[in-house]
Amino acid sequence: MKIRKLIPEEYAKVSALLRQAFPRSRYEVQLVEKLHDNKKIVHEWVCIHRNAVIAFIAFSKAFDGANFCGWHLAPLAVKPQMQNQGIGSELLRFSLRQEVLKESTIFVLGNPDFYQRFGFLRCTMPICPFDKNNAHFLGIRNNAARQHTVGYEREFKAGV
Ligand SMILES: CC(C)(COP(=O)(O)OP(=O)(O)OC[C@H]1O[C@@H](n2cnc3c(N)ncnc32)[C@H](O)[C@@H]1OP(=O)(O)O)[C@@H](O)C(=O)NCCC(=O)NCCS
Repeated sequence: MKIRKLIPEEYAKVSALLRQAFPRSRYEVQLVEKLHDNKKIVHEWVCIHRNAVIAFIAFSKAFDGANFCGWHLAPLAVKPQMQNQGIGSELLRFSLRQEVLKESTIFVLGNPDFYQRFGFLRCTMPICPFDKNNAHFLGIRNNAARQHTVGYEREFKAGV
């Protein structure tokens, strides 16, 4: 298994993976396709095993008003047949070590039990616009000093 940056030639494979990993939702696949179509700056890595894309992770910009303030981790997905073998954890740990992220603030909206293993901490500031009471909103190196609602790329808005 090899982890490396995603290349545009693999966009269709990533879409297929996201459809499998999130079978009840089109949100994740549409989000990633829109980010690509609109040429947004996104840091993305994949796990390759026997020439197939078996896992994917993406980080897109977080904003405080108009200012960049870190990265949002979304989505993270592992091919269903390959889940619970440590692959998602390895891909996440790998990406957090990369130069572009290793000193940045990173946010994630997800299961706290899973993400706390990697150093993410629950946070009350900033407010996540997609969560109720920030119950599933966590951060790494989150140095928010005043309350605000964190911004996402506009592609995160369903239906845009
Ligand atoms: C969540 C996910 C990325 C984890 O990757 P993985 O390779 O299966 O996970 P790992 O093998 O590295 O880690 C396994 C641990 O993650 C936990 N886990 C698996 N799926 C989970 C989920 N949807 N939510 C929370 N925790 C989960 C397992 O309980 C397991 O915990 P344990 O070690 O105490 O048994 C993967 O299961 C997946 O793609 N799920 C479907 C898509 C999804 O829900 N993504 C959520 C992030 S946006």
